[in-house]
Amino acid sequence: MTEITVPPGSWLRRLLQVSDEPLDTILAWAQASDGVTELAWPVPGQRQLLVTRPDLVEEILVRKHKRFRKDAFTRRLSNIIGDSLVTADEETWRRHRRLAQPAFHQRRVDAYARVMVEEAEACVAGLGDGERLNLHDLMMALTLRVVCRALFGAQVSETLDALGRAIEEYLRWFPGVLRTGKSPPDWIPTPANRRMRAAVRVFDGFLGRLIAERRAAPSDDLLSALIAAVDDDGATLSDPELRDLAATLMLAGHETTAVALAMAFHLLDTHPEARASLEAEVDALEAPLGLHSLAGLRFTTQVFKETMRLYPPVFGLGREVLEDTPLGEFSLRAGDQLWITQWTVHRDPRWYDDPLAFRPERWTPEMEAALPRFAYFPFGGGPRVCIGQRFAMMEGALLLAVLARAARFEMVHPEPPELLPSVTIRPVGGLPVTVHRRS
Ligand code: HEM
Repeated sequence: MTEITVPPGSWLRRLLQVSDEPLDTILAWAQASDGVTELAWPVPGQRQLLVTRPDLVEEILVRKHKRFRKDAFTRRLSNIIGDSLVTADEETWRRHRRLAQPAFHQRRVDAYARVMVEEAEACVAGLGDGERLNLHDLMMALTLRVVCRALFGAQVSETLDALGRAIEEYLRWFPGVLRTGKSPPDWIPTPANRRMRAAVRVFDGFLGRLIAERRAAPSDDLLSALIAAVDDDGATLSDPELRDLAATLMLAGHETTAVALAMAFHLLDTHPEARASLEAEVDALEAPLGLHSLAGLRFTTQVFKETMRLYPPVFGLGREVLEDTPLGEFSLRAGDQLWITQWTVHRDPRWYDDPLAFRPERWTPEMEAALPRFAYFPFGGGPRVCIGQRFAMMEGALLLAVLARAARFEMVHPEPPELLPSVTIRPVGGLPVTVHRRS
């Protein structure tokens, strides 16, 4: 067995280093290791390991997935999304996945194209030429509307704006695994923890009302289908279970796509050639856009993929080792916390030429076929792979197309934004832009 690399410096120095500059630090440590590196972790007797080699990622997510569960930090998200797909262990996860899966079959997802285009058009209709706004906030609001309408039939209202603000507050609070050294436990009534709890109450209120409305008057949406669903043993989902499943889909289904879209516009604004190619492609589409437009969105889809390579919204996956187990040439111990990082794998020169360059055209079918499995995994993999992958890819391409046809977003700060790793990577201060209307 090979020894696991330990980066130089004392335990405390490493803990502070990763807390202060999380993304740069893990990238440097990953590049100095051969696949597994020990991070500093403030729980005695427990290790936190960074896993950064595609074959090892596959071993964890696919071949040996039963020997792992979600890590302590992912489980901490249960204070907002309860016990469901993202956080739950095997039994509850299996049941919720079976019940939610039909909403993500291809035909159902195709039907969401109309909602995506309508919401994107409504979003751009409200933008004025020369207006200054925060693009990250705009994308968060747009993708929240899309997911709420597509999955829950919830029409846009002021409630949704209040909900958006509450989610924002929560995400600002979420300490994230890489900032371990700076986050007091949830139960200490710090001002930040109190704001987090208030945000969760807004979220609970919204979901409670939505579930009560659909119980009273079912409609043709996922929530009504989940209320009506009967399991093999005749059981139905209770209100708390429905709440957790709906909360999970809502949170997992909007801020990820919002970050990817916001970062795509940042990269386009700072790479004029790519922007010109994308604008030429989307301008050539016949209006109104819809599902049929996807075939004409080849470059746009490449832009979305390349954005998620450089800025994977979920920059790392957390797992806890359930039993002592070998991993490649390394040895894992029960209780080890693993951090499997897209952020480092996607920037590895062994898999990508000029890895820090934004080159959407690299995504040819030949390049994808030659890429090692799990050298690119923005949606995870194995049984816990993102349920919304198809939804997100379609949403990414359609929203980019509708928005880029109507407007150009000029970054107030064109340099790469500082990123805060929370549940996803978030640009600090959002992305202030000036809107230039194109149509
Ligand atoms: C660009 C957009 C998206 C990205 C990058 C993304 C990424 C991911 C990743 C990496 C995972 C795996 C987490 C793990 O293994 O620990 C995941 C899981 C999940 N995602 Fe997504 N996601 C996106 C969009 C969506 C959308 C649109 C939805 C729903 C509408 C969604 C719902 C979920 C759910 C429910 C899970 C948990 C699946 C399970 O464990 O069964 N995601 N996502």
